[in-house]
Amino acid sequence: MFESLQPMPADAILGLIVEHRNDPRPEKIDLGVGVYRNADGQTPVLGTVKKAEKQLLESQTSKAYIGTAGDPVFNASMQALTFADAVSDDRLITIQTPGGSGSLRVAAGIILRAREIPTIWVSSPTWANHVPLLGGAGLTLKEYPYYDTEKHVIQIDAMLDTLRPAPKGDLVLFHTCRHNPSGLDPSEEQWRAISEVVVERELVPFIDMAYQGFAKNLDDDAFVIRHLASQVPEMLVVTSCSKNFGLYRDRVGTLSILAGESSLLGTLASQLSSYVRTLYSMPPDHGAAIVSIILNDDDLRAQWVTEVGEMRDRMRGMRALLHDALQAKAPDHDFSHLVRANGMFCFLGITAEQVGRLKKDYGIYMVDSSRINVAGITAENVDYMANSVAAIL
Ligand code: LMR
Repeated sequence: MFESLQPMPADAILGLIVEHRNDPRPEKIDLGVGVYRNADGQTPVLGTVKKAEKQLLESQTSKAYIGTAGDPVFNASMQALTFADAVSDDRLITIQTPGGSGSLRVAAGIILRAREIPTIWVSSPTWANHVPLLGGAGLTLKEYPYYDTEKHVIQIDAMLDTLRPAPKGDLVLFHTCRHNPSGLDPSEEQWRAISEVVVERELVPFIDMAYQGFAKNLDDDAFVIRHLASQVPEMLVVTSCSKNFGLYRDRVGTLSILAGESSLLGTLASQLSSYVRTLYSMPPDHGAAIVSIILNDDDLRAQWVTEVGEMRDRMRGMRALLHDALQAKAPDHDFSHLVRANGMFCFLGITAEQVGRLKKDYGIYMVDSSRINVAGITAENVDYMANSVAAIL
């Protein structure tokens, strides 16, 4: 049966983890997959996660099944973190999912049940897994212009011109805080203009928020979700706790659906439940239980907010450090877009061929598009990085 299968190409992002791991050069640098790294280049378990985990070990009395929607306390806490009081709870449903990707997949399934030929508009470029994940699930994908890779700016006019004629009811995928891969988000004013088009054309926003807290702060980073929730009848929001809680491998996320009327929530709950049951039966509990403990304990929550701020500040610092080092080593090139972007990612702004040379000759790993994870930069490796980039320009 399996003889007809062909090997698949390595994943554009995850493949880099293996390549970097197998590289024997001690000076190698991993700027590929989006995981936070501290000044020592490590991805530590957050202090608050360690504390909550200890509490969980001591207090947990059962490992019995938790149910298709996960833990209601976790769901309510995450819903509040995402939406605050932007919209009345009686139109919102939130379920626990296996990470952001699991949430995207459930969302796609529910959309397919609700719509015959659902079309979703995605930014060009978008996260490398959005297209295979949502397209593979059966959604029809179309692109709207987003980032000008030459000028390193958001193509707001082209974006609005593309979305304006989109058929009523089409879905539009937006990233918030920050756009992956470019690290550049629309300003508040631009978001308001986008939201006007969404409302006017009766489009359905589908928001992917995987980095809440990594751009400005937890509340400002949710601005577009809260703003749109107050404007539109329906929307879908995917969140992930991989980055801001550092729970990557524990797979923790949510899917929230805003319904036009509260009377629809019962049906939505049963649809989500039956869909999840056929896909993975129920989400893993451990990571979500940790998040729930942190969000519902005043001290732990305050410490966690500080930890998120520390991660954000380090990334901002490394972004500036890299920018200055590159500008010093390659003064004829403009790297100012690095500091105009924010959060974990930005484009270095080099070709795929140059990306290949950085990998082959210098052991520096990044996605072919030249997307870098700025958390991979340290005070120790920044000069090596800047010298290597200058050498391949
Ligand atoms: C990334 O974009 O690198 C992260 O979201 C990790 C992933 O799963 O691709």
